[in-house]
Amino acid sequence: MTHFILRGFGLYAPEKVLTNADLEKIVDTSDEWITTRTGIKERHLAADDQAASDLALVASKQALEEAGIDPSELTHIICATFTPDSVIPSAACRLQERFGITGQMCMDVQAACSGFLYALQTARGLLCLEPESKILVVASEVITRRMNWEDRATCVLFGDASGAAVLTAGQPGEGPEVLDVMLAADGSLGDLLTVNGGGSAYSYKLGEPVGPEYFVEFQGREVFKHAVRNMTEISEAILERNGLAKSDVDVLLPHQANYRIIDAVGRRFDIPEERVFSNIHKYGNTSAAAIPVALTEAVHTGFIKPGNLVLIPAFGGGFTWGAALIRF
Ligand code: ACO
Repeated sequence: MTHFILRGFGLYAPEKVLTNADLEKIVDTSDEWITTRTGIKERHLAADDQAASDLALVASKQALEEAGIDPSELTHIICATFTPDSVIPSAACRLQERFGITGQMCMDVQAACSGFLYALQTARGLLCLEPESKILVVASEVITRRMNWEDRATCVLFGDASGAAVLTAGQPGEGPEVLDVMLAADGSLGDLLTVNGGGSAYSYKLGEPVGPEYFVEFQGREVFKHAVRNMTEISEAILERNGLAKSDVDVLLPHQANYRIIDAVGRRFDIPEERVFSNIHKYGNTSAAAIPVALTEAVHTGFIKPGNLVLIPAFGGGFTWGAALIRF
């Protein structure tokens, strides 16, 4: 049986910070509304010359350094993102170029906010086929390029960031072990959260102005309901599949979309607030990057301790959702 070991973690958030007070000057909103409805106080914004691969490079270097692995040793680069540098080439290929390495299998995974778990599961599958692999699993988002800054219902929620980890095969006890990952999707609910513009279903012509469909659009309340229900159900399912009880979970580290969602899932698992990791106040929703950014912070600050069982539920556009169990 293959054991999947996480060797190192890294994160990067761009220097520019946009506070709720800054947003009050852009749209009709207030720090009070954003804080009470979402828990977000500020978010990071990529500079004009920063794309997803630029953010990913910094986070990945950190993860590789911590893992003691040289970029040239990598066998695969998997990048979870819905905001790649370009349609072609992928952000993973751009990242490989920035590292100055060649030969690795490189690809992007698009599962919106569940992207990191989808990428992690892909990496586990590859390790079963090629156990000597050293796989960089990185998530990077420059979502602010896909924000309609006239739409107060969406533009206050998101931020840019990248998080990374290196996955290899190994023995239990060698490092944080990914015990299991479960994934799901329901495409029939796809229209509740979209970025349609630029897709092949929506024709456009050279010189045409860009409309609101080029930016993130969603029905917040519907997404909220599905997020809480699906994250809870899949978390229960992954625990059951592994013969574990809710009381076995030491740390809950959910996707960071809205503090009220995080809190609602925590309550359903009877996990006290002090064992639920959240950094949404600093970053907002960074989609696929949110989980590896949270993991990196939780590990580096000692929030997660050796021996801890960590439950990681995610939910995003598609709809996609999933959960991972990691033993530190
Ligand atoms: N400032 C002030 N008022 C606002 C703002 C704002 N920024 N945005 C909306 N409002 C107003 C609305 O216009 C509405 O006013 P009305 O009652 O007069 O019509 C009122 O506030 C309530 O709006 P709702 O949308 O019902 O607010 P809700 O409490 O549902 O919170 C939110 C909205 C924060 C978006 C919430 O629904 C949410 O977090 N949804 C889930 C997001 C999520 O899970 N995303 C994960 C996936 S993202 C991905 O995959 C890329």
